[in-house]
Amino acid sequence: MKQVYLDTFGCQMNVADTDRMELILFHSGYQRTQAKEDADLILVNTCSIREKAEQKTFSLFGGLKPLKMANPDLILGLTGCLGQQDGKKLLQRMPYLDFVIGPDQVEEISQAVDRVQSTNKSFVWTGFDQEKTYSIPELSGKKPRSPGPSAFVNIIKGCDKFCTFCIVPFTRGREKSREPEELFNEVRHLVKQGAKEIILLGQNVNSYGKRGLKNPMAFHELLYGIAEIPGVQRLRFITSHPNDFTRETIRAYRDLDILMNHLHLPVQSGNNQVLKAMRRDHTIEEYMGLLEELKSEVPDIAFSTDVIVGFPGETEEAFEDTLKIMAKVGYSSSYMFAYSPRPGTPANELPDSVPDEIKKCRLQKVIALQHKQSGKLGQSFVEKNVEVLIEGKSSKPDFAFKGRNPQYWNVNLQAGEDIFKVGDTVNVLVENVTGHSLNGKAIL
Ligand code: SAH
Ligand code: SF4
Ligand code: F3S
Repeated sequence: MKQVYLDTFGCQMNVADTDRMELILFHSGYQRTQAKEDADLILVNTCSIREKAEQKTFSLFGGLKPLKMANPDLILGLTGCLGQQDGKKLLQRMPYLDFVIGPDQVEEISQAVDRVQSTNKSFVWTGFDQEKTYSIPELSGKKPRSPGPSAFVNIIKGCDKFCTFCIVPFTRGREKSREPEELFNEVRHLVKQGAKEIILLGQNVNSYGKRGLKNPMAFHELLYGIAEIPGVQRLRFITSHPNDFTRETIRAYRDLDILMNHLHLPVQSGNNQVLKAMRRDHTIEEYMGLLEELKSEVPDIAFSTDVIVGFPGETEEAFEDTLKIMAKVGYSSSYMFAYSPRPGTPANELPDSVPDEIKKCRLQKVIALQHKQSGKLGQSFVEKNVEVLIEGKSSKPDFAFKGRNPQYWNVNLQAGEDIFKVGDTVNVLVENVTGHSLNGKAIL
């Protein structure tokens, strides 16, 4: 078999896209390798959410160039969001590239490779396909590997929200939901292959089913539907938007035992003026109201979030509102970013008024606060039992396995490898905490 080396930047959507490329290429005679030097084909699945993601991509390609120079038969492709965003410009900047494709061409990866081989000419192939959604990865046939106990299922592609800072609506196009039957089939298939936990995936999962489905179904109905599939032991979803969060979904948290008690709900800022300028279309009071409602139904629910500091016009007071909201909610974890202007987005037209130094300083402050909060929350699990789905071997020497508890904390556990195996759900007595990991012993 030929060898393909795949590298991924960006979000879970991109990870899932890379997995699909691996599967499709496997059926075209390519096996995945971890060594670039051995590869016949190198694909970098890119992200353009912040400038840093772009820079990392360019420096990676800088390192790949000598390989291509030494071996002209090597095929070098750039896929994903940066490809969609910059298209031809990328070929001008990196003439040694063979092709650039966007996120909607991921399923055509074999055709792209064939085209290079038959024409020997570089090309750009981007654009959105409004007819197609993500197709079901083949339900039969040989596979490069099995899904593991925790599997992702894409339920919707694209985003219609157009938050003013965000490139995603431009790189992924309009929202399109997959038909429920197709999703149920995919979940059944994954369970048959050993998946115990299903994580529903999309830039905006709770926009699911708003329009365009032949068999209309709302997001919460999808949750109830998946919960009925035998063998699904855990259900999660990322990412949802506060504005699409319905009462019915809150009720689903209460009704469905398998819906894990964790919600990742990006807040971005704690200040109403900033939220407005970001076009999040909700106030901080509405956001807090939602969390409170959820908490009253599911008292042990954990929240995590995304935060941007240094958005244009963010004053010191506005920034402090973000710190206040973080302290008030007590997030178990946060993804925190300094605002990065993105070409073509509305916020890019605003003066980038917060100097880099201040952005950095604010970022450090939110990180320090989150660190403190995570530490405190982690301690609250010590000497308690947590239920853990074993997802793999632990990388820490003293522990046999790693997994997650319902609140999505990493757990390293000591356990007899002859007694437990990957995919089992076990009770673990937590002994101590390191960073965002709970450490403990399995209880028989
Ligand atoms: N669809 C998800 C998040 C998508 S991008 C949602 O709406 O919640 C992941 C995170 O990256 C965003 O939540 C935001 O916090 C951050 N992000 C997006 N664009 C950014 C930019 N231009 N600068 C800094 N952070 C950004
Ligand atoms: Fe970007 Fe906003 Fe869409 Fe999330 S909801 S992907 S932040 S535009
Ligand atoms: Fe990046 Fe595209 Fe995801 S821009 S964050 S890879 S949707």
